[in-house]
Amino acid sequence: MKVRGIPYRTIWETAGGAVEIIDQTRLPHEFVTLRLENMRDAERAIRGMQVRGAPLIGVTGAYGVALSMQHHASDAALKASCDLLVKARPTAVNLKWAVERMRALLSPLPEGERAHAAWNEARRIADEDVEINASIGRHGLELIQNLHRKKGSTVNMLTHCNAGWLATVDWGTALAPVYAAFDAGIDLHVWVDETRPRNQGASLTAWELMQHGVPHTVIVDNAGGHLMQHGLVDMVIVGADRVTARGDVCNKIGTYLKALAAHDNGVPFYVAMPGPTLDPAMSDGIREIPIEERGEDEVCYMSGLCDDGEIRRMRIAPLGAKAANPAFDVTPARLVSGLITERGVVAPDEGMIREQLEGR
Ligand code: MRU
Repeated sequence: MKVRGIPYRTIWETAGGAVEIIDQTRLPHEFVTLRLENMRDAERAIRGMQVRGAPLIGVTGAYGVALSMQHHASDAALKASCDLLVKARPTAVNLKWAVERMRALLSPLPEGERAHAAWNEARRIADEDVEINASIGRHGLELIQNLHRKKGSTVNMLTHCNAGWLATVDWGTALAPVYAAFDAGIDLHVWVDETRPRNQGASLTAWELMQHGVPHTVIVDNAGGHLMQHGLVDMVIVGADRVTARGDVCNKIGTYLKALAAHDNGVPFYVAMPGPTLDPAMSDGIREIPIEERGEDEVCYMSGLCDDGEIRRMRIAPLGAKAANPAFDVTPARLVSGLITERGVVAPDEGMIREQLEGR
């Protein structure tokens, strides 16, 4: 996608055997790129959310292994790097999927061949991500086209968090259909949940929709239900960090409440799910998916651009207040209208999901 007219991916290889990323902690007020020189840099970027979004942290993990292999390619180094990277964030299964794919490929190879193979594989995972998302965009486009044909006027979508191109290598998952529909000339508008506590909606989704010229409106997290009651939402579309074999969807905290409101108001609730986000080893998402618990500061403080042009952080809860910060929740399959995958739209049903995505 383009930033001020220049095409970018969120992660790319750069001179001197390094990787460059867009530092997402600086958006939307500053556009800054950051060079990752070694595996520790990659691990820190994932943990510190300079890169975030399930597909992108997977790709960064893969590049982290490649960065490690170019410095030390022993069995011990491979094991230590993979073990560390996989733990950088616990919920999005894409990270584990990508790192384990690297480990499986590299383990049997002689040390001297590992670095070259690792770079090639990380590049392949990044390119595959772009292909997958483009395909999700095409399948999701059909859903939006149908809605538009039926309604005959502006299609109002609602999305939570950021599952746009910033969360992937390019295109995004939930926003890929939005971009495809907008580029096809469909009259649409996106309600953007601000997505407390880190505000990925207000900061990142609004920024990238604005870069592409897609009409959108930022709303507070609690506004969605009200808008649905008044017929102002035609479709909810969100991303996922992990989807279980039976179709339970783990995504950014607050997604479940949107699914409940959508269900109560007869609004279709779609989840964009690339193949690597499926965790076929898990079934009951509420019991089994590890939910990342993040620090209290994200809840007690907010930061942003002040009227004097300075970016500052300020406390919004009383000093000494305790805060809890579960970063994700699980939407049970029964609340999901469909999973938009790279192979088409599938019902959140174990048999259908396995048939469509397993053995890919
Ligand atoms: O904590 P984040 O910003 O990594 O959470 C991101 C989300 O919850 C996204 O919706 C999800 O990863 C899907 S991204 C295509």
